[in-house]
Amino acid sequence: MKVTINGKEYEARQGQTVLQAARDNGVYIPSLCYHPKTGPAGKCRVCIVEIEGARGLQTSCTVPVKEGMIINTESENVRKAQRLVVDLLLSSGRHDCLACEQNGACELQDAAYRLGIERPTFTLAPKEQTDNSAEFVFREHAKCIQCGRCIAGCNATVVNEVLDFGFRGHDTKVICDDDVPMGSSTCVQCGECVQLCPTGAIVDKLPRGKARTWQLEKVETVCPYCGVGCRQELHVDRAANRIVRISGVEDSPVNEGMLCVKGRYAFDFVQSPERLTAPLIR
Ligand code: SF4
Ligand code: SF4
Ligand code: SF4
Ligand code: FES
Repeated sequence: MKVTINGKEYEARQGQTVLQAARDNGVYIPSLCYHPKTGPAGKCRVCIVEIEGARGLQTSCTVPVKEGMIINTESENVRKAQRLVVDLLLSSGRHDCLACEQNGACELQDAAYRLGIERPTFTLAPKEQTDNSAEFVFREHAKCIQCGRCIAGCNATVVNEVLDFGFRGHDTKVICDDDVPMGSSTCVQCGECVQLCPTGAIVDKLPRGKARTWQLEKVETVCPYCGVGCRQELHVDRAANRIVRISGVEDSPVNEGMLCVKGRYAFDFVQSPERLTAPLIR
């Protein structure tokens, strides 16, 4: 079918949302709570656009395309509303990008950049807690934008059912089980929540402080452990000749981005000085 975005005609497929059709055609619409794997959540409202004939601004991640639809993603009205949403998210957290692990790969930072937001307008008290109790995953509530992607991933994708939103209003936060530290919870440290988080609120511990995201070269391979054959991306620091982190390949039909704790975090053997590098002869 044909749709018009910002005055230009594009092809779209039946069943696509406005956001998906725009993305497929290279039109940028900021989005935070939508992820192809967890689907539209309609929570963050940063993906709002104008659709001719519809009342008010619409969340492009939830509205299906229709033949002849006329969409505007960059009017002053749309940009103003998108900027306000991102500004409020930045204002209500602690977004010290210079020190953040996600710097350079953060979807919130990217949206702020694309919308021309240099610094937050408002000063709201962020949540102070961090959770350093787990073996491989670090959490910082002040960087959480409550998009729910980690919760959807933990419950519906890897079906470990650890994460949920707890408390209400300003106190709302992502909790593990009945609000216990992640290290004491039923979390199996699969890292799916890390992979799905659009910000630096849930990050891998191993690479912290080791390299900036843009210094790492991504090399695709297959996990060396079991016979499932999950596809992985090694994030390699070429200068130091070491693997800094591992993520799952999202478009792999085998694992769809998911990995187990070994596949994602047990890669220290690669650089171990005790590793056998030549055959042993009796
Ligand atoms: S989560 Fe994103 S916006 Fe916030 S400090 Fe980290 S990089 Fe910056
Ligand atoms: S690491 Fe895996 S099991 Fe633990 S909270 Fe995240 S998604 Fe759930
Ligand atoms: S921790 Fe990350 S994925 Fe989870 S709700 Fe917060 S920002 Fe979203
Ligand atoms: S991406 Fe559409 S509401 Fe969040």
